[in-house]
Amino acid sequence: MPKLIFENTGEEKELDEDSSIQEICEEAGVPFACTEGVCGTCVIEIVEGHEYLSEFTQEEKDFLGEQDRERLACQCKIRGGCVKIKY
Ligand code: FES
Repeated sequence: MPKLIFENTGEEKELDEDSSIQEICEEAGVPFACTEGVCGTCVIEIVEGHEYLSEFTQEEKDFLGEQDRERLACQCKIRGGCVKIKY
């Protein structure tokens, strides 16, 4: 089962494959606003495992540019493995 680890708190959460990370991030305290990839409120830093996240959405490309260090938590899904994030 894919796992999301919050570096800030050491909290670890298991998610279903291909599920959105939004709800779990929200519970962990990541702030959200538009939930549509437009405002950038939900930016998270990917410490480890960016390869386990879904492809960048067009909204993320527009907002974050081409890089693999940050993602918008309202836009990504987890595909497997273990992803460590910081917010
Ligand atoms: S909540 Fe606005 S970009 Fe994610």
